[in-house]
Amino acid sequence: MKEIIIAPSILAADMANLGRDVEAVSNCGADFLHIDIMDGHFVPNLSYCADTVRAIRPISKQIFDVHLMIENPKAYIKSFAEAGADLITIHAEAVSDLKDIADKIHSLGVKAGVSIKPKTDASEILDYIKYFDLVLVMTVEPGFGGQSYIEDMNKKIAVLRSAIDDLGKDIRLEVDGGIKLDNIHMPLEHGADVIVAGSAVFKAKSPAEVVRKMKETKI
Ligand code: DX5
Ligand code: ZN
Repeated sequence: MKEIIIAPSILAADMANLGRDVEAVSNCGADFLHIDIMDGHFVPNLSYCADTVRAIRPISKQIFDVHLMIENPKAYIKSFAEAGADLITIHAEAVSDLKDIADKIHSLGVKAGVSIKPKTDASEILDYIKYFDLVLVMTVEPGFGGQSYIEDMNKKIAVLRSAIDDLGKDIRLEVDGGIKLDNIHMPLEHGADVIVAGSAVFKAKSPAEVVRKMKETKI
C-alpha cells in the first residue's frame, strides 16, 4: 500500500480569504490541493474557473488536483492545464470517449483522472482505468461540501482497488465527500489512497494536526 495522500478541498475555504486559506494548508502535510470546478449543469452549483487556479498557483507548491464536475470537459482541459493544474479529473458520465479524453489530458503534460458519481457502477469504467493515473470515487452526490459519507460506496472502492491491483499499474484511488477523522478508516480499509477532505481540514483549528492524524490512521 502506497503512502496516503490528503487532498484538502478549497470548496470549504473562506471565499473572502481564499489566498490566505490556500497558504494555510500549503505546508500542512497534504500533498494535493483539491479544486472543485462546477458548471451549474453537470451539478446544481457553480464554483471556480481556470482564472481561480491561475490566481492561487503561486501560493502553493502542492499538486493541483482539479476535479471537473462539468459537461463537455474536453473544451476546458487546455485552459486548466495552462492555469497550473497538475492533475485533471473528468467525470465518466460527462464524456463519451474515455480513452480519447485521457490522451488529450496527457498531451497537455498533465496527469489524468476519471471519476464516477455514487449512482454510477464501477463496471462502467473498469475497461478504461488503465488509461488514467487516478480513479476518483464520489462518496457524496457531487455539488456541495459538508455532506455525509455514503457508506454504500465502500464496496465500489474495494472493487476498484482490486481492479487497479490486477492491472499492476501506478494508479491512485481517490475518494471525495464527507470524510472526517472519525470515518476515514472506511475508505482506507477498502483500498483508497488519496483522501479529499474539505470541511474536515479547512474548518479545523489546526489543519496540520488533522492532516497528520488522517495520515496516521491505522487500518
Ligand atoms: C463535492 C466536492 C468535494 C467537497 C468535499 O462535490 O467534489 O470535493 O468539497 O467536501 P467535504 O469534505 O466537506 O465533504
Ligand atoms: Zn471534489
